[in-house]
Amino acid sequence: MDISGVALITGAASGIGAATAIALARDGCSGLALADINEESISKVMSQVQALGLPKQPRIHSYVLDVTDEKAVDRIVAEVAQAFGRIDYLVNAAGIAKKVPGGAAFTSTPDWQRVIDVNLTGSFFVLRAAAQVMLKQSPLLSTIDGRELQRGSIVNFASILGAVGVPMTTAYTASKHGVLGLTKTASEDYAAKGLRINAICPGYTETPMTMGNELVRDVMAEKVQKDVPMRRMGKPQEIADGVVYLCGGRSSFVTGTGLFVDGGYTQR
Ligand SMILES: NC(=O)c1ccc[n+]([C@@H]2O[C@H](COP(=O)([O-])OP(=O)(O)OC[C@H]3O[C@@H](n4cnc5c(N)ncnc54)[C@H](O)[C@@H]3O)[C@@H](O)[C@H]2O)c1
Repeated sequence: MDISGVALITGAASGIGAATAIALARDGCSGLALADINEESISKVMSQVQALGLPKQPRIHSYVLDVTDEKAVDRIVAEVAQAFGRIDYLVNAAGIAKKVPGGAAFTSTPDWQRVIDVNLTGSFFVLRAAAQVMLKQSPLLSTIDGRELQRGSIVNFASILGAVGVPMTTAYTASKHGVLGLTKTASEDYAAKGLRINAICPGYTETPMTMGNELVRDVMAEKVQKDVPMRRMGKPQEIADGVVYLCGGRSSFVTGTGLFVDGGYTQR
């Protein structure tokens, strides 16, 4: 995938963010900055990457970060840039989901606000801070053919719910539609400057977010049989492969797009 640079991943302690850390390390990234609100789990992911025993081991640092804390985001992105010298890929994977029975009419303001704060505003805070670093750095060169690839590549996390709505997901669906809008406008701002900004739009994927408890698992199994043409959920690694593609040199002419990795869900 032509991945030789330094990656900052938010939400790296679990699910798709953790799978992306492993995939980027396997594909040859030189540095990994793993950020998450969950300190204990982030250390476990760090150990998992170190245990891969790769011939070319990336440098890894972990950061405890709440993406809704604007000042902390600015401070930690600056620390990452200082520690690694540059930030080539930002993977904005931190996210939360909240289902509210009864839908929009029964969604409380705190529930709405928290989901928007983490998924949309948090993605904006990290994108803004990382873009400022990326815009100042020289472009990364391809390790395959030496061409100039990009000054930086940002992958935001939208969802199939960035394109369609399903019941009882008011704030989540609104936040993920917002992430696609943020991706499109920011990509236009910097396309000519060599900074690429895309979104990944996963379908139902086997992570703690979807498999957290038995009730959710049963509902999910039924949904998948009915709505997903491939009749299965995605694995975190399958989403991570899409993220690695969007980060790396193989997508050097791709910006402002949403890549749907969803077993066929959104073509219906
Ligand atoms: N699993 C799915 O089916 C699915 C589908 C579409 C989109 N997504 C999106 O993919 C991304 C990753 O989700 P996942 O399924 O791996 O979930 P997950 O729950 O396994 O991981 C999410 C991670 O984000 C972290 N996080 C939550 N709030 C945070 C905050 N304020 N600051 C920093 N970190 C925070 C959590 O600690 C956790 O480690 C999310 O943006 C999610 O919305 C997931």
